[in-house]
This record gives sequence, structure tokens and C-alpha cells, in this order.
Amino acid sequence: MTTATTTEAIYDNLSRLLSTTVPDFELRLKAELASEINRLKVEKNAVILGHNYMEPALFYSIPDYVGDSLELSRKAAQSNKDIIVFCGVKFMAETAKILNPTRKVLVPSEKAGCSLAASITAEDVRELKAQFPGVPVVTYINTYADVKAESDICCTSGNAVAVVNSLNTDKVIFIPDEYLAANVARETGKQIIYPTKDPKQRFRNDLNYQMIGWPGRCEVHEKFTVEDIANVRKQFPDVVILAHPECSPEVVAASDFSGSTTAMIKFVEKTNAPHYLMLTECSMGDNVAAANPDKEMLRLCSIRCPHMNQITLEDTLEALQKEQFEIVIDEEIRRRAYNAVERMLHIG
Ligand code: 13P
Ligand code: SF4
Repeated sequence: MTTATTTEAIYDNLSRLLSTTVPDFELRLKAELASEINRLKVEKNAVILGHNYMEPALFYSIPDYVGDSLELSRKAAQSNKDIIVFCGVKFMAETAKILNPTRKVLVPSEKAGCSLAASITAEDVRELKAQFPGVPVVTYINTYADVKAESDICCTSGNAVAVVNSLNTDKVIFIPDEYLAANVARETGKQIIYPTKDPKQRFRNDLNYQMIGWPGRCEVHEKFTVEDIANVRKQFPDVVILAHPECSPEVVAASDFSGSTTAMIKFVEKTNAPHYLMLTECSMGDNVAAANPDKEMLRLCSIRCPHMNQITLEDTLEALQKEQFEIVIDEEIRRRAYNAVERMLHIG
């Protein structure tokens, strides 16, 4: 992705993509902010990474690279800029820092958390390892550095099945997303059990299981239901439904395709269906609709991630001006977390 620096060039691009959905005065205002961000980015030798869930005006104006968690981790690993500004949530910026300890990594809002990352602590992982000794721990990238540090390997929604298969073990612990784990279990033909957060809970010896999950959920994707799908199909029988694997296994099973945010974008680009419905964060639907004006995108869109939503052009400008909010990770934790992230990057 190349980013323009003049306000006029940015405005022209935003207007071409978004003039049917965003008022003109807002596009002009956002183009001015983006122009200043892109000027500062060059001056400070910074790179901006933007997750697919960023709001459209930001998504189409300032990131040097956009993508899903896996793609952005790879871009972070390749960066040679002095500053990395991560337009995404904190665990993503932490991953960039884990891979780039000598560079300054900034996240534009301190409030950009994640319900999955908040669902598990490093102590929880230590308890799980004590309960299931010797079983490798696969940790979703949507976790904080201290949790990654307790893990054998990380995964994203784009490579979770490949990572689990790569381990070649009888059992795996897969944390913290209950639904992603169930979807991976289904795809890899494994039986899954879920411990509660009570470390004293023990399982019967005769249970047949190959995966151990955790009761964490994405507060956005857990809201989609099979009834939503049935209602949409009733009105649009030819709709193609795409679901992020953080949706429940029932929702994924009732959909036509499931994949990471980028996998869903590519699916829409490469196919020609009469209608599409994406069961994921709202802004991504707006971004895909803007890039594919010839495709009919249905909306089921009351669901904006309250964390991704925190990242605005205004905050990103301030982040670059004041070089805030800097990600700091204890070096011993970072080194151990690095092993889990790096091992994942070798797999796919
Ligand atoms: P992706 O890795 O598919 O971009 O997902 C990140 C995320 O937070 C989804 O809610
Ligand atoms: Fe976390 Fe869900 Fe928001 Fe993604 S969409 S950042 S998983 S809360």
C-alpha cells in the first residue's frame, strides 16, 4: 500500500471510495488529518500498520500495510523503521514489540483492549500446565505478552489449524478462545474439553479428549446467532455467508465460508455471488464494500468492536506527535514470548 501525503490526493482517494457513505465535509476533515499524519510519518521514519477493522477513512489513508493479525505480525517482523504505529488493539502492538525490541512501538489509544486477551492471565496458563503436564500450549495471538511467554507456540485465525497439526501430539492446550478452539477441534477431528477457571477442578480419567480449551470469547463474534443466519437466508436465499472463526461452531457450520479477516476479504474479491454477508466487525464490512462497489454486501451491522473503535485519526496524529502510547514489555517476558511468536511465523 502506498500512502499519499497531500491533502488533495488523500481527499480524492477517500471521495472515490467513500463518497456514497461518508459526508463530504467529514472526508475533507479526515483527509487533512491523514495528510499531517503521513507527513509526520516520513519525518519521524515511522511505519503505520492498520488492522482490517480500522474505520474506512483511516483504513484507506494512513497505513503502509493493512491486513489480518498474521500479516501484520509478519510486516512488524520485517520493519526497519524507527517507530511502528499500530492502528489496532494493544495485543497486536505488543506482538510488534515482541518482534522488534529495539524499535519504539506505539498504540494510539490506551483503551484499545480485547475481551479475549482479558480472559486469561499468565497464572491461569501455569495452572493449566500443572493440570495437564507435558501437553503443549497453543496460544491465540489475541493475548498479552505474559500469557504468550507461558506458551509453546502462538497462532492466529489464519494459521490455527496448521499450527495444531504441526505439533503432532496426542493432546494440545488451545487458549483462550472457546469458539476458535471448538472450530479448530472440528476441523482437525479432535474432541475438546473446557476446564473452568477453578484450578481445583479435575477431569475424570476416562474422558476421551485431544484438545483442552478455555472459556474466553470475543465479545463481538459471540453475538452472531444461527437465527440471524436463518433470517437472512429466508429473505436472500442466494446469499453467501462468511463467518470469522471466533463465531460459535454452530454459526460457522451454518455459514458458507470461515476464515481470518483477510481470508474473508480475498474470498469476496475472488468470487461472484449475488449477495454477501460477513459475520464480523462492522467496519470491515464497510471497507470491503468500498473496495468492491460492484458486489452486493448485506449488512447485519450493529456490532462494532469497542476496542478497535478507539483508534481514530485524531488519536493517531497525537500518538505520532507525542510518541505515545509506547509499548513496554519486561525483557525476560518478551524473550519467552518471542519464542512462541517466532515459532508460529515459521509455520505459516
Ligand atoms: P484476524 O487475525 O482474522 O484479523 O482477527 C483478529 C481479531 O481480533 C478478530 O476479532
Ligand atoms: Fe478482541 Fe473481538 Fe475486538 Fe477482535 S473483535 S479485538 S477479538 S474484542
